[in-house]
Amino acid sequence: MSNRMWGGRFESGPDAIMEEINASIAFDKALFAQDLAGSRAHCRMLVAQSIIGKEDGEAILEGLDAIEAEIRDESFTFSRALEDIHMNIEARLAEMIGPAAGRLHTARSRNDQVATDFRLWVRDAIDTIDAALADLQLAFLDKAEEHAATIMPGFTHLQTAQPVTFGHHLMAYVEMIGRDRGRFADARERLNESPLGAAALAGTAFPIDRFATAEALGFARPTANSLDSVSDRDFALESLAAASICALHLSRLAEEIVVWCSAPFSFVQLSDKFTTGSSIMPQKRNPDAAELVRAKVGRILGALTTLATVMKGLPLAYSKDMQEDKEPVFDALPTLSLCVAAMTGMMRDLVPNEKAMRRAAGQGYSTATDLADWLVREGGLPFREAHHVTGRVVALASDSGRALDQLTVEEMKAIDDRIDERVKGVLSVAKSVASRTSYGGTAPKNVRNQVKRWRRRLDQKPRSGRSRG
Ligand code: ARG
Repeated sequence: MSNRMWGGRFESGPDAIMEEINASIAFDKALFAQDLAGSRAHCRMLVAQSIIGKEDGEAILEGLDAIEAEIRDESFTFSRALEDIHMNIEARLAEMIGPAAGRLHTARSRNDQVATDFRLWVRDAIDTIDAALADLQLAFLDKAEEHAATIMPGFTHLQTAQPVTFGHHLMAYVEMIGRDRGRFADARERLNESPLGAAALAGTAFPIDRFATAEALGFARPTANSLDSVSDRDFALESLAAASICALHLSRLAEEIVVWCSAPFSFVQLSDKFTTGSSIMPQKRNPDAAELVRAKVGRILGALTTLATVMKGLPLAYSKDMQEDKEPVFDALPTLSLCVAAMTGMMRDLVPNEKAMRRAAGQGYSTATDLADWLVREGGLPFREAHHVTGRVVALASDSGRALDQLTVEEMKAIDDRIDERVKGVLSVAKSVASRTSYGGTAPKNVRNQVKRWRRRLDQKPRSGRSRG
């Protein structure tokens, strides 16, 4: 039997393998709500423009409601022979209301239909992610405020560099997530145009009102070029790119958490809720959630690569290749939401081990730069010379197995007589961090100011999900 939706010119049905490779219903049924929304908007517009009759329109709308109920209570039978969500719904509509169902597809094609459905789905996913990212930022802000003055070692090359505050370290992630949200917001804005009514590729001769359907679906406006409308998947690519960068940020923090909770570091303790035990080693508390967040960037970045490769070299307008757009997106965006939620939970419950962090902050001569800066400021030395003198002081400390603030002033004076008692004021880690008050610096005072600034910003900026269109 040939396909009942488009089989007019076909004598036989497809080969079993053809059906298998062609069908997308297994995954695009996730678009049912968006497909129904698009059909409702299209149907109302067709009636308003007198393209179809009022009674047919009402029958269609009632049928769509009944179909929605069937899908939601799982009594709807999805058929692979009907290929995709669009034809599954339309075929069921025909069973329910008869020939009037055939009028719904007037001035429409599956090409603009799927582009519309997919945009709506991605838009919702962006809104979900944005709300989750805002929650993560709040978790960071609360922890950063609490630990604005908690000292930890700052690293470069994962070598102890200079002391920083734990709050400052966390605020670095607030900045990153802020940029991530900005990327999603930008993507959402460009996404928010309606392809519905572009039809197969060239538009339609029916007197449709694309502005009306755009508005009904919460889009800012209709897309301006019908060829572009059905062949564009930038919105999906951009969202995957934003998701990839965001997931990559999360993987960096995840890695830090894994390192921080290892016994030699012992900087933080994760809660029981976000760790697992070992079946053989009773002492273990493994940071599995952090490890999984660290790993999941792989599939998100993979999704971006997949879709970019699908789209590369495709001629205008629609090609069936584009059916391969959905699975990577359906996997990647919810995966990101899950990672963000896991990170938020971990961050809320995480308890820093202030003693261990502070001890580590003092190791590795982390205040050497403070000494060099002091020599510049108080001794009038050029920085390069101060750097050299400080190197000799570090060597003395190192040779005698002491920290910088354990050397006597006399010992340091013997290296350079421009050093005096006042130097003691800069060699402790607490003094070091408190002194770094340059804009964007690590001083506790700065951290508190940044927390305030971000709280104001988060209060002001409504999440994109709240404003449709
Ligand atoms: N299932 C298809 C997809 O996801 C819908 C569009 C099909 N259009 C067509 N001309 N065969 O891309």
